[in-house]
Amino acid sequence: MKIFLDTANLDQIRKAAEYGVVDGITTNPSLIAAEGASNADQIRAICDIIDGDISAEVVATEATDMVREGRELASIHDNVVVKIPLIREGIKAVKQLSSEGIRVNVTLCFSAPQALLAAKAGAYIISPFIGRLDDLASEGMDLIRDIVTIYDTYGYPTQVLAASIRGPLHVRDAALAGAHIATLPAKVFDQMFSHPLTDIGLEKFLADYHKSLQNA
Ligand code: E4P
Repeated sequence: MKIFLDTANLDQIRKAAEYGVVDGITTNPSLIAAEGASNADQIRAICDIIDGDISAEVVATEATDMVREGRELASIHDNVVVKIPLIREGIKAVKQLSSEGIRVNVTLCFSAPQALLAAKAGAYIISPFIGRLDDLASEGMDLIRDIVTIYDTYGYPTQVLAASIRGPLHVRDAALAGAHIATLPAKVFDQMFSHPLTDIGLEKFLADYHKSLQNA
């Protein structure tokens, strides 16, 4: 499973990139706004740090404008994947952009029928939002499982990206459910490294090693 970071913060991206296990980045208008830079500038800067798929979202809501904005975003860098919301106009834009060879991440997906429409329109990635469904007492991970099954059954090449991830258990369950990608806030990426038994175990190994040196 590919690991993406769900952030537009350059410090977080640089720090995580040091481990060599981050395959891409997702952004959205809220994350870009938090950085106080223009969408284009921030996406360009992110592309300079991570060599992988970088999702950049349109803010237009009418198909023609989405297509125009999508083309502009795609022209920033070869690695840009244009993010389009799963609304009626969005599906029209996905069809057009995909037919031009522009890769599209269809975002704000909350149901399997929506995901089917995105795949039929030629989406490169579908982004079901797990955490936001869990917040409404709906099982977000079931949606990942349903979409993976439907895409496998009909051979759609669209990758399933588990979005709106809230903790390490979401990462585990998304991997078990067959998601191709999980996009994580920096905090969840950090949490993936940690286990108290690893720290305790290493402390004991090193203490025993140093004791053996004194006895030698
Ligand atoms: C995905 O691409 C979205 O940017 C993101 O995962 C949304 O997560 P949130 O529900 O934590 O805002």
